[in-house]
Amino acid sequence: MKIAFSGHALPKSGAILVPVLEGRRLGATATALDRRTKGALTRALEASRFDGKIEETLAVLAPRRLACSRVVLVGFGKAEALDALAAQRIGGALAAQLAHSGEEAAAFAIDELAKAATPVTSIAANIALGASLRGYRFDKYRTTEKRDQRPSLKSLTLMVDAPTAARKAFAPLASTAQAVGAARDLVSEPANVVTPQAFAAAAKTSSALGIKVEVLGARKLKELGLNLMLGVGQGSAHEPQLVVLRWNGAGNASAPVAFVGKGLTFDTGGISIKPAAGMEEMKTDMAGAATVLGVLRALAARKARVNAVGICALAENMPSGTAQRPGDVVKSMSGQTVEVIDTDAEGRLVLSDALWYTHDRFKPRAMIDLATLTGSIIVALGSEYAGLFANDDNLAEQLLSAGSATGERLWRMPLNETYDERIKSDIADMKNDGGRWGDSINAAVMLKRFVGKTPWAHLDIAGVAWATEDRPIAPKGATGFGVRLLDRYMADSCEE
Ligand code: BES
Ligand code: MN
Ligand code: ZN
Repeated sequence: MKIAFSGHALPKSGAILVPVLEGRRLGATATALDRRTKGALTRALEASRFDGKIEETLAVLAPRRLACSRVVLVGFGKAEALDALAAQRIGGALAAQLAHSGEEAAAFAIDELAKAATPVTSIAANIALGASLRGYRFDKYRTTEKRDQRPSLKSLTLMVDAPTAARKAFAPLASTAQAVGAARDLVSEPANVVTPQAFAAAAKTSSALGIKVEVLGARKLKELGLNLMLGVGQGSAHEPQLVVLRWNGAGNASAPVAFVGKGLTFDTGGISIKPAAGMEEMKTDMAGAATVLGVLRALAARKARVNAVGICALAENMPSGTAQRPGDVVKSMSGQTVEVIDTDAEGRLVLSDALWYTHDRFKPRAMIDLATLTGSIIVALGSEYAGLFANDDNLAEQLLSAGSATGERLWRMPLNETYDERIKSDIADMKNDGGRWGDSINAAVMLKRFVGKTPWAHLDIAGVAWATEDRPIAPKGATGFGVRLLDRYMADSCEE
């Protein structure tokens, strides 16, 4: 969808969208159109339940005395509550309403609203962001789809008094939306396409943005001793890869913030194999790594004045004659040994080595990992919040506040010594399984042993990386969760 900004003008064709506040209070453009159509809008309102609440829309088709093909009344809710997040939901709602309407062009008259909580340029920019995020579609493998089955909407023009200012406000949001799209693409791709090697190749293309990309193959990983990661990948025909991304935007050598992503391009469970039903969803088990790549891309695209490192820990978990077995004991890069009780608890193995590697090599000032780590976090939080675990209250607070600001919400979970008991092994320093109860915490407790004294946070995104139904600003499918959250965290807490 092409997004543009212009001054106010009645379009000669396509749809015109107009704001209506809660309680059916028409904005300036809606009032003018209602007069011109001799009351067509008020009659449509009377015939409907539309009230002007946020995300409500009401389309009036082919109104007389107007050149355009439809007027869409768009609920703005209460002016006092109209913030950036509300504007994004409005954008998402209109993209959903018009996507398959047959309409190719839409122009949205963003009126000045008395008592609005947010300046009109920011409202317009955030509506545009919401529309482009909700308008995302992964359709490269649909080869027989007819034209009239595809989305019709091609362009959205936001009409404001100061289009130049709105366009400027949208520019950084547009590059974030692109980074989210790149992450969603990788998660949507099936595992026969996105292997660890293919992911690494995709990451290499981000060097065009000024990101330094380095790829460590199995030989190098062996030399460095990342045996937990190698063990997870040893049953697969595709060797593990560790991608190191670096964005040095601070203009000095200050310690970076590091992001570490779980990148299981497929998780069968290995020898502790998963049940067949729903296993296809495990192509999304690299969502953490995709988000890490997305965050680095977002930072580079807006030339963020900050140093950042992104680590994508890529492997495929397969059962085979070379696969690791339950009971195997493996020595991690840190020197600590792990008894592999369950080969399906592979995420914590891969991440433990990746976290230690990151801590050891980059001495980051903060380290944040993202992982579709446990089914247990979905049991606890569903798909509304991601689980947040942290060894540092300040870092946790900053992330929680970035979560509220972006709508990518986090809920802090406990992480203390009382859980250590659960991952005690009879034969090694620890085991990778602490039993069913509170498993997302058992996993986090293990990770904590591989971060040294670095301020660290772990985001368990198993419940939020993939939407099983449409969301306000994400269609069903890959969400790209975390890109906007961490981009905001960097902007608010880490940039000079
Ligand atoms: N990748 C899964 C977690 C997952 C489950 C992500 C559902 C997204 C949706 C992870 O590797 C896993 O298999 N975890 C096991 C751990 C258990 C064997 C200790 C789980 O949560 O069941
Ligand atoms: Mn698993
Ligand atoms: Zn997994």
